Formats: sequence, structure tokens, C-alpha cells
Amino acid sequence: MRIRRTDTSIGATIDDVDLAELDSAAFRDIYRAWLEASVLRFRDQVLTKEELQAFSERFGPLEYAPMGKITDEQRANVPNPFVTNISNIIEDGRPLGGLGSGEANWHTDMSYIERPPTASILMAIEVPEVGGDTEYCDMHAALESLPAELSDHARTLSIKHDAAHDSVGALRRGFEHSASPMDAPGCVHAMVRRHEESGRDALYLGRRQDAYIPELGLDESEALLDKIWGYVALDGHRWVQQWRKGDVVMWDNRSVMHRRMSFPASNRRLMHRTQVRPVV
Ligand code: SIN
Repeated sequence: MRIRRTDTSIGATIDDVDLAELDSAAFRDIYRAWLEASVLRFRDQVLTKEELQAFSERFGPLEYAPMGKITDEQRANVPNPFVTNISNIIEDGRPLGGLGSGEANWHTDMSYIERPPTASILMAIEVPEVGGDTEYCDMHAALESLPAELSDHARTLSIKHDAAHDSVGALRRGFEHSASPMDAPGCVHAMVRRHEESGRDALYLGRRQDAYIPELGLDESEALLDKIWGYVALDGHRWVQQWRKGDVVMWDNRSVMHRRMSFPASNRRLMHRTQVRPVV
């Protein structure tokens, strides 16, 4: 197995490995590389949904795929609630997965729940001819880029993370638009969070839409969020994944945010995704 870091602050490619046949030593090396590089890419994988799930479960128990407000009975009818499709493909009049072909804004997966997933893992099954890249940005570096006074201020604040919209701005099942970000549903997290395993601090912004700083009035919250978001994804703190079929990319939601570029709606894109619950 060969680990090659990118020339930015995040990202590494790991070659010569089969994620379906991983011994404990190789897994330990991958785990360490994940903590160090925050985003890992494995090329040329051929994994069934069950194999992707088994690889993902080595990092911890899995989180249910986000499906909005659904009953336990509805969830019980989902064929595999831990491996979800991200796709724009419509078959027999039904979408095969979520997020369509539009741009998905910068976000952290499921930051609107009490204990958001640590890892997200995405495997490319079908890729468009152009577009559909996924870009990552380093949130440790974003915090370090803030002027000292702004960084000190950020450390005293929290953010309420909107649960109603997904990363393409669509309403999740069972939710409604809120008149104001102050009223949006979702969990509150510290604006700066310490990574439980590396001990490094990072900005934790979730997503911009309907975010709200509960310690401030709405206008102040909006202005401060806009200012802080201005330090996200600066040069040297980003890495772009251009997908090939068989790529598996995993990332650390405590350290990076990601966004997905749009692609032609006439192209097919299908990804399988898992998410890992925190164990500490
Ligand atoms: C996501 O935002 O979690 C999906 C990213 C992608 O489809 O590339």
C-alpha cells in the first residue's frame, strides 16, 4: 500500500490496496492517514454495498442515511438504511437517490444532529462525462486564518445548524421553510470544536443556509457569519476530487467541509455513501 499526500493541506491518495481485503496493519495505517490528511482517495475499488458497509463499519457503527422525518416503520422498509444512493438518475419515474445534478453548497454532513457523523465514505459507481467533482476545504486551516481577535470571538460563540434543508437547498421530508434563521430547527454546536482524536481545533460552520448564532441578534449573526465564511476554502486549503468509476473517498467531517459541483442533468452519476457515528 502506498500513501501519497497532495500539495495542499488536506488529501491523500492511497494506491495498491483492496478495501474488501484489508488486514489490521493496513487498516491502522489508513486510520492514521485519515486523521492526518482528513480526506483519503482509493482508486480502482470494486465493492458491493455490503463490502462498502463492512469497510465503513471498521471505523465505528454506521449512521442512518438522512431521510428527513420518517417513522420507524418507513425506515424498516428501506432496503439498506446505512448505504444510501446519491444520484440524479430517474428509473421508472422514481429518483434512484438524492441531490440531483445541481451544485451542492459547502457543508458538513448532518451537522444539524446532536452527534454528527465523524466519517463519510463515498464510492463512485457511475460518473458524468464532465463536472460532478467534489471539493473539500480544511477547517483547521480556516480557523488558523482568522485574525486573532475574530478567532478569540469565534471561540465564545455557537451556531444553530439548520436541519430543514439539504446541501442543494431543498427541503427535507417533513420540514418547512422558516421565516427566519432564528426559527429554523436544528442543533446548536460550538463554533470552534476540538477534534477528539487529534486534539486540533477547527471552525465548525455546518452550512451557511439558515445558520444562526444564538448569542447574537439576527443582523449581527448574519454579518458575523458572512465575515467568518470569508476565511473558508482559501488557496492551499482546498482539494478537488475528480471522480473516476471505482474511486472511494472518505473524509473527516470534524476537519473538512465539502461541496459538489453541478454536472449536465443528461449525464448519469451514481454514488454509494455511508456515514460513521462518533465512538468517543
Ligand atoms: C455529499 O454532499 O455528501 C455528496 C457529495 C457528492 O455527491 O459528491
